[in-house]
Amino acid sequence: MTLLHSPVCDLLGSRIPLVLAGMGGVARAELVSAVTAAGGFGFLGMVREPPELIQREVERLRQSGHRHFGVNIIPAATDPALLERQVATCIELAVPVVGTFWDLDEQVTRRLRDAGITVVHQVGSVDEAIEAARAGVEIVIAQGREAGGHVRGVRPLRDLLPDVTAAVTIPVLAAGGLATGGDLVTAMALGAAGIVLGTALMATEESFAHAYHKQRLLAADAGDTVLTSSFHINWPPNAPVRVLKSAVTSGASGDPHAPGRVVIGDEEGRPIYLFSTDSPLRSMTGDFESMALYAGTGIGRIRDIGSAVARLQNIVAEAEALLTTDPAETDYDDVEVSSSVCYAGEMSGAYMGEADLADDLWLLDAQMQAALRSALAQGVNPDAASQPPFAANAAALASWSLQVRQLAAGEGVATSHPIVSAKLPPRALLLQGLGALVPRITRPSLRNRLARLRLFLQTEEHDVSA
Ligand SMILES: Cc1cc2nc3c(=O)[nH]c(=O)nc-3n(C[C@H](O)[C@H](O)[C@H](O)COP(=O)(O)O)c2cc1C
Repeated sequence: MTLLHSPVCDLLGSRIPLVLAGMGGVARAELVSAVTAAGGFGFLGMVREPPELIQREVERLRQSGHRHFGVNIIPAATDPALLERQVATCIELAVPVVGTFWDLDEQVTRRLRDAGITVVHQVGSVDEAIEAARAGVEIVIAQGREAGGHVRGVRPLRDLLPDVTAAVTIPVLAAGGLATGGDLVTAMALGAAGIVLGTALMATEESFAHAYHKQRLLAADAGDTVLTSSFHINWPPNAPVRVLKSAVTSGASGDPHAPGRVVIGDEEGRPIYLFSTDSPLRSMTGDFESMALYAGTGIGRIRDIGSAVARLQNIVAEAEALLTTDPAETDYDDVEVSSSVCYAGEMSGAYMGEADLADDLWLLDAQMQAALRSALAQGVNPDAASQPPFAANAAALASWSLQVRQLAAGEGVATSHPIVSAKLPPRALLLQGLGALVPRITRPSLRNRLARLRLFLQTEEHDVSA
């Protein structure tokens, strides 16, 4: 048993609380198998798939010796007759877990539960979580707006997750923009029983996504995703998706809601339409760039298309290292002092998620580097623990605190954070602003510099009247 063991592991039959999202088209037996082999739990993404495919993929998993896995379906996006056959197939095959998403279908939930199947439902709000728990769902997934694919809710995960965990007594998994061991520890510190990974596991060798999509993911940064309603054919109305920006999302391919359909690809004889929710799969040909290139905001932290097993092992190793590090023994020069977990206690949820920082942040960075150069020129020893890599006079502090406040406001932190009060002296303001921002910055060099600034301000007495 690992440090990370949680109640969902017992419910799902996994060793670690890492769950592969039921990504339609992308999550097939090969990926579920790899995730299971690494100790996690995986859903086959079977939205609108025929019962024959569900059966084939389930049999593949069972032939490989896997017993614990789930099947994901989306009642609201499926023709009722097909949905009926999908549900009947899951019951006949006695799949252990079924995951659902979008509108809760109470009847489907009840039928599955009556057949002894564990039901997991993904929600985008507290009300939906309560409704799901009342309907007999045994695990809810709280999906933040950072998520790749269809996005149900409107709130950032760091805000939604604590509210959902407080509102229901069943285990809650966190989803949306998550990619690292730090994310796992942070989510668990907010009450999650584990995390759901979509994009981070789509960008692996075993996923059924087309190589074109994987390469686009690899080249992308956090700021390259967008929430859009451009890709809507096959789904109920008002269902935004998070995808990589493209000519289609910028409007260059025309009005997505205009009448008529344009064929842009093919999957074994099935036409793929422009503006449909289909994403490029191994089994497709066509104009991949014009298809839905789903991606969550965690994409900037995916640096390779390796094996799913290696990705999960890295996440676990990172999380376990964070959980076993004794802060008293931490050498702040050698480790990432800004890991989210360091702030879990004090931020009360206002910190998780991928920062989509404005370029302005580089201004702050440049300013600090200039201060460092000038400090060095004045003979300051940069290695001494008491020496910050910047000047600490009142003017610099005031200027930095203003910039940090503006950045925090741009990040939507201001509404839920006391830095808006602006009645504090610059040093305290700066500390609070940095506390809100540092854990969300993805560029290690900048994050470490800001973290050191924060640490310095916390531990040193400054004469800010200078
Ligand atoms: C390519 C892709 C396809 C998805 N398809 C489904 C789906 O069929 N059913 C579902 O419940 N969720 C689906 N999702 C959403 C995931 O359940 C989950 O909320 C999301 O992947 C989490 O965010 P992340 O991608 O940043 O990890 C999909 C996500 C992606 C990226």
